[in-house]
Amino acid sequence: MNNKVISSSSVFSDRTILVCQGRCCRKDGSKQLLMAFESQTPPDVQIIPCGCLGQCGNGPNIVILPEKKLYQRVSAKDVSLLFLANKH
Ligand code: FES
Repeated sequence: MNNKVISSSSVFSDRTILVCQGRCCRKDGSKQLLMAFESQTPPDVQIIPCGCLGQCGNGPNIVILPEKKLYQRVSAKDVSLLFLANKH
């Protein structure tokens, strides 16, 4: 897994990341995932905790907007890789 930290906001700007905090995803570690996003996210990217995304059992789940990309079974160690995979 790539642990490179993205420090430039220009590679992933104007996005919103919904991080499911529903009961099933919380059981699978979404609270820790939310904290990882909040600590590594550039200032022009919005992190929003949300309710169940209807994908229980495959969590923790996130959705990246505006593309509406769903990622499942995301862990805190995947955060920097997600920024790389979704850069402009
Ligand atoms: S609790 Fe996260 S998808 Fe249902």
